[in-house]
This record gives sequence, structure tokens and C-alpha cells, in this order.
Amino acid sequence: MTNIEKDPYKGVRDFYPEDMASQNHIINTMRKTAESFGYIEYSASVLEPAELYRAKSGEEIVNEQTYTFTDRGGRDVTLRPEMTPTLARMIAKKKKELAFPIRWYSIPNLFRYERPQKGRLREHWQLNVDIFGVEDISAETEIIEVASNIMRNFGVIDDNFEIRINDRALIDETLKEMRLNEDQAYRMKKLLDKKNKIDNFQEEADNIAGKEFNFNPKPSKQITDVINTLKSRGISNTVFDPYLMRGFDYYTGIVFEVFDKSPENNRSLFGGGRYDRLLEIFGEEKIPAMGFGMGDVTMRDVLETYNLIPEYRSSTDLYICTVDQDSIPESDKIADILRKNGVNVAVDKSGKKIGSQIEYADKKNIPFVICIGKDEIDSEQYKLKNLKTGEENSVAIDEIPNTIKRK
Ligand code: HAM
Repeated sequence: MTNIEKDPYKGVRDFYPEDMASQNHIINTMRKTAESFGYIEYSASVLEPAELYRAKSGEEIVNEQTYTFTDRGGRDVTLRPEMTPTLARMIAKKKKELAFPIRWYSIPNLFRYERPQKGRLREHWQLNVDIFGVEDISAETEIIEVASNIMRNFGVIDDNFEIRINDRALIDETLKEMRLNEDQAYRMKKLLDKKNKIDNFQEEADNIAGKEFNFNPKPSKQITDVINTLKSRGISNTVFDPYLMRGFDYYTGIVFEVFDKSPENNRSLFGGGRYDRLLEIFGEEKIPAMGFGMGDVTMRDVLETYNLIPEYRSSTDLYICTVDQDSIPESDKIADILRKNGVNVAVDKSGKKIGSQIEYADKKNIPFVICIGKDEIDSEQYKLKNLKTGEENSVAIDEIPNTIKRK
């Protein structure tokens, strides 16, 4: 006898069918919204050569958070911690054949060796929406509009979230004006990124600057233009946040982050920004790029806060209960006809009492049942019962698909 742990590996989740249903709701809402803006799906392997992340992702993620191992051929391999370098690699490889602008999305699972806590796990799924080949702020406004629409399509109202906007170029310029050298500026940017997570920000900032650090930039014209254009498109829950950094080194311009405003879940939900120079790591010319990553873990927390996860319903629409063994062949035939008409149907062959067959369907959250015996087979009329409402209707087979159609 062995005694292997039944819990999943630390910081990852099992998805039992009910969890999978809410997960699919999250993924489908992301997918539908991205596609509604003309973004098309791509994908790639979870395995990447480790060097892909060394050039520009940022020290913390590469040194402390990647799952990296040596394969049997001696290659350094990393389980992707984010999708952006993979996307940049794919675009760099086919740059000549691709027609720009490119609007692509993907919903990969990503792996980061983090301390598991609320909103942070070691495996998460992340919607990535990115546009390549657009230099002006129509890229920023479109990407932020997609982000805002996903929140709305989940049912979160604008009052409950805030889109914070900043510009990496503005930070660089301001730090230069304050006469910080390159090393000080780099450390200061890392510190700004952590501002909300530490208590002694000012002290550390003064240390890095070697004098009192007084950070007070005004929004750039770019930032104001983005905010005003979004307003004209009906998106007003935006604010300029001079401290917003975002972790990755590859961002070059506008960065944004969406914050939940509820007291129970007051935190950053997701974000992104402009990264015009990432293709340079492949020895390619730069291509303007803008996008964001939205994680499923933080989104699930928000949806739970606002009670926006739909009630579980089985993907099985109809359960056919069989009165006796003789009714099974005919029940199977009826099931086949219904499946061809888009109904998901299972047939009970347990030989148990009708009452317990119906109870089973109810327990599994299957919304409809019919019971088939000799009477039904002879009359070709079936009592279709809605287990939620108790409503019962006598119908012919061809009426069933429309009666039980999903909302
Ligand atoms: P990121 O800020 O590292 O950006 O991740 C984006 C989002 O993914 C986070 O805001 C959060 O929702 C989710 N996320 C990240 N790490 C975890 C974790 N350990 N557990 C749960 N959720 C997590 C990026 O990854 C950029 N590559 C996004 C991007 C795309 N920028 C441009 N295009």
C-alpha cells in the first residue's frame, strides 16, 4: 500500500465539473469579447527555451519565479510564465508573411513559482489580447476598450472598477529630470512597482535617490489623449496614476491596470501596456505592439465578490429514465435523434426505480427528464419534466429540442 497525497500540487487547482463550468463561463466571456473586436486566436506549447525570458522580462520573474529545468538533451527549458515573449517570437518568425496590423488573442495556462495567496497561484489561465503594427494611440484606446468590455460583459458595472493609466516614457523622463542615473532609475522603477505592497516606500525611495524623492509628474499629452478618446467612446472610469509601473522590463509607453474598487477585493485585477521593442531580442526591427493579460484567478474573485458567477447547470440537457429493460433500445434510438438535433442526452440503464433515476438527474443538475416505457413508445408522446420548476408537458420527439433550448 502506498499513501500518495490526494491534494493537487501546491498552488495549482483541480477543476471538478462544477468548477469547470464556472471556469468555462470565464473563458467563454473572455473569448467572445476578444472575438467581438476582431481578434483571432493563436496558441503555442507551454515549453519554451529558457533564454526567451532572460533578455527582457525582468529579474524577479526570471530569477525567482520560473519553473526551469534541463531536459535530457541538456537544454534549459522553462514552463512559460507569461505569453508575451512567445507571441513576440511567433510574430518575429513570420513577420514577412503576416499582414499588419495583427489582432490576436490566446488563453494560455501559465506557471509562476510564487507564494500562493489570494489572487496568486502557481498555475493560472490568462487571456492575452494584443495588437501589433499600430503606432498611434488608437492601439491603446482599442486595447483598453476590449478590457473594459470584458468587465462589462461579465456584468461588473463601471462604478465598481477603475482603469489606471500611466506612461513608462513619462516615468523615464521624470526620473531623468530628477537627475537619477541609469542604475538609480532602474531601481526606482522596481520600487515604484512595489509601492502599494510596502510600508516604507518613501524611505527606500530617498535612499535610492540619495536625497528627498518627490515624484510629482503631470499627465503627458498621450495620457490625456487616451483618457479623452476613451471618454468619447463612453468609458469614463479612467484615472492617471503617476505611480503605476507594471513589472515587466519590456514596456515602453502607455501602461494600464484595472482595479477592483470593492472594499472586500480592493486590488489590481489585470493590466498591460505598450511594448514596441520586444522583437529586438530576436534581432528583428521593432514593431509597435500593445496588449494586456487578464488572469482567471483575480477575475473569479471579482465575480464572486459581485455574485456574478451563473448558477451551475449540467451540460447534459436531458436525462432519459427507462421504465424497464425492454424500453432501453427504443430510448437509445430517441437519444440518437435528439443528439442529432443538438440536445445533450444520457440514458439511464441502471434498472433502478424510476423515482431514484429522476432523483439522480436532479442531483446532477440536469434540467429535464423524460421517462420512457411501453405507453410512451406506443403513443410516441413523452412527458417532458422540468426538474427546476416541476412543470410537465406532453410532447412529441421533434418538439423536445425547442422546448429545452438553452438560454
Ligand atoms: P502580468 O501583470 O504579469 O502581465 O500578468 C497579467 C495578469 O495575469 C495579472 O494582472 C493577473 O490577473 C494575472 N496573473 C499574473 N500572475 C498570476 C498568478 N501567479 N496567479 C494568478 N494570476 C496571475 C503579463 O503577464 C503580461 N505578459 C501581459 C501583457 C500582454 N502585456 C502585454 N500583453
